Amino acid sequence: MAQAVSVMDKLVSLAKRRGFVFQSSEIYGGLGSVWDYGPLGVELKNNLKKLWWRAMVQEREDIEGLDAAILMHPRVWEASGHVAGFTDPLVDCKICKNRFRADDERIKGKPGEPDAQCPVCGNRGSLTAPRMFNLMFKTFIGPVEDEAAIVYLRPETAQGIYVNYLNVMQSSRQKIPFGIAQIGKAFRNEITPGNFIFRTREFEQAEMQFFVRPGEDEKWFEYWREERMNWHVTLGISRNKLRFHEHSPEELAHYAKRAFDIQYEFPFGWQEFEGIHNRTDYDLSRHQQYSGKKLEYVDGVTKERFIPYVIETSLGIDRLMLVVLVDAYHEEEVAGEKRVVLRLHPALAPIKAGVFPLVNKDGMPEIARRLYDDLRRKMPVFYDDGGSIGRRYRRQDEAGTPFGITVDGQTTQDQTVTVRDRDTLAQERVHLDQVARYLEERLAS
Ligand code: GAP
Repeated sequence: MAQAVSVMDKLVSLAKRRGFVFQSSEIYGGLGSVWDYGPLGVELKNNLKKLWWRAMVQEREDIEGLDAAILMHPRVWEASGHVAGFTDPLVDCKICKNRFRADDERIKGKPGEPDAQCPVCGNRGSLTAPRMFNLMFKTFIGPVEDEAAIVYLRPETAQGIYVNYLNVMQSSRQKIPFGIAQIGKAFRNEITPGNFIFRTREFEQAEMQFFVRPGEDEKWFEYWREERMNWHVTLGISRNKLRFHEHSPEELAHYAKRAFDIQYEFPFGWQEFEGIHNRTDYDLSRHQQYSGKKLEYVDGVTKERFIPYVIETSLGIDRLMLVVLVDAYHEEEVAGEKRVVLRLHPALAPIKAGVFPLVNKDGMPEIARRLYDDLRRKMPVFYDDGGSIGRRYRRQDEAGTPFGITVDGQTTQDQTVTVRDRDTLAQERVHLDQVARYLEERLAS
């Protein structure tokens, strides 16, 4: 456990040092379990979202994109079951005022009874009986803060898809089976958040709802389970650290008939970062009932009417980012020195190459600058002339930059530079005119 903690600690510190992730509102002491993405973090996150969007929307003819608003009509959350059912049982300590989930393993005894002991202050009999606490954030729409003006910050993006399913289907002329995908923020007032960006109160989801004929749901469920696992492998995530976990009847969410998590082996154990759910016709039926609007699908040939079943794939982008960072993090010895390197897949790397003049004289900075200006128009690159060349390499290793390009004495004579590979540490001499092509070929493979 001590080692597990220290790997996470090292990662949190690297993430801050290199500008991947900062604590939100840090100068005010931070805001609990809310994080900000820095210059490298936002690039990495955008790369993940771009690859997901490409695979799930742009490369497929049976999925359409959507960007629904975060705020929705409050009846949506009654229909979806979130007002009544999206709750955790909580207990309060009447003495130290701390609040816990009723199933917190540290609680000794049964909350509400005289012998139950508070895990923080240690008093007996101080814990209240469990009370249900809704995880949705509430706010008010318009100038009057009364019950009628309550709206929620969405706890999942999926509902924006369900309420737009007819709009999307009709405007894009899709027929079942087809899907709708979107990426966006979701909010949950989590009681026990933690583990860095693993469980936060504001996070981003990449969700896809696939509408199918009832009876074909199980076939599509299997299809999507495989597709999603395979996609993670294409990102370079270690296959032996990925597995499925099927939900037992007790674990199933209120809307699900069957569910699989895709889990990763984090330093703190196997945990979910994507869910594949068979949501049946639950959501669309409820929206039909609550809105009074027909949400049936009419088969153009048979004229059959039915409410489609939905297979959902629901990925947490922040969790995927943690998976990618943990999986890429390596410490190794090179020539008797410790090296920390993020072995990010080149498609994910925020910076594709560092450009360095070996020394700041003899015409080297001018050549390096020109090369940098040329490459910058083609890919994200970073110019660094500060400190020894070894230190500059190490900074880029920590940022996950796949290539380091050094302009040295020989460059001024034969117009070649050295290109260093982050993973193999091999160095090749490449002609200045060929550098862009050299990188493009290797980044594409
Ligand atoms: N629409 C279905 C749904 O929201 P979920 O299992 O509650 O299902 C799906 O969430 C994914 O969203 C999770 O696998 C996780 O990656 C991400 N997620 C959920 N809660 C989160 C939180 N508090 N912080 C970060 N990511 C979260």
